[in-house]
Amino acid sequence: KNIALLAGGYTGEYEVSINSAKNIADSLDATKYKVYTILVDKNRWLYETATGPVDIDKNDFSLTLNGEKIKFDFAFITIHGTPGEDGKLQGYFDMLNIPYNTCDATTSAISMNKAYTKAIVNGIHGLHTARSIKLFKNDAHDVATIAATLKFPLFVKPNNGGSSVGMSKVYNAAGLPEALEKAFHEDDQILVEEFIKGREFSIGIARLKGKITVLPATEIISSKDFFDYEAKYTPGVTNEVTPADISAEKNEAIAAIVTEVFVRLNCKGMVRIDFILLEGTEDFYFIEVNTTPGQSANSLIPQQVRAIGMNLGEFYGMLIEGAM
Ligand code: DAL
Ligand code: MG
Repeated sequence: KNIALLAGGYTGEYEVSINSAKNIADSLDATKYKVYTILVDKNRWLYETATGPVDIDKNDFSLTLNGEKIKFDFAFITIHGTPGEDGKLQGYFDMLNIPYNTCDATTSAISMNKAYTKAIVNGIHGLHTARSIKLFKNDAHDVATIAATLKFPLFVKPNNGGSSVGMSKVYNAAGLPEALEKAFHEDDQILVEEFIKGREFSIGIARLKGKITVLPATEIISSKDFFDYEAKYTPGVTNEVTPADISAEKNEAIAAIVTEVFVRLNCKGMVRIDFILLEGTEDFYFIEVNTTPGQSANSLIPQQVRAIGMNLGEFYGMLIEGAM
């Protein structure tokens, strides 16, 4: 089967996506799948050959190599952020009738929007969301009102972003203007959210052979102030414990919650859900759903797949077969 592996994208997560694609290409069973990595940027969609890049024909998503037209049986999207995680490519592939690995266009679009996702998961038994305010770039922002409404420390983050790009942790009103500017640089909607102190967990969940499978939780123990871009991608800065050292009871509670989030959002393929267990309580606080979670060799989902003794290529193969 011909697999188009779509990587790149328009955001600060470009490099992350390239690393995800590399690991997926290396893992997939080469006897079953012929993988073509397609680099997507704003202007061109390219396939690199020994003699230079070749453009994709966007009319039918085909590639012509040495006079031979190649059509794809499957699109494996591993672009983080727009246009691979927010429903745009999903809508395009729906129109062309090409199956793909991720959630559908609607779920991708909603899940990319942290505020919308919070509204949907709110009310799931045992799951809470931090108090927050959404701001729009073109509106006037009154720092004093934010400071009077929410309790510091606060996280300021792009509403539609990932990998903590454009994100800051703010301890007082004086820190807000710079943090707002940084987040608005990435997105015209931002979220100012109360910091939830506690243990941080991230859990992969996927539909494999028609059955929803919850992967083991990873606990994220960062030596930095928060799990920022550097902490996410610099080896050694963060201790990621997979499976997390938690009781069977908590594990079960987590599995029930992530399953409910997956079902409510009508997720497909694999997603990764992040949340925090509020210190001194049994209350889980939802952070977000990642619908094209990182897949580099050291990323969380690959760690979790290895932890259940499954081969990563087999895991990706099941996602492909399940979506065809
Ligand atoms: N947004 C990054 C890639 C993740 O969720 O893994
Ligand atoms: Mg994320």
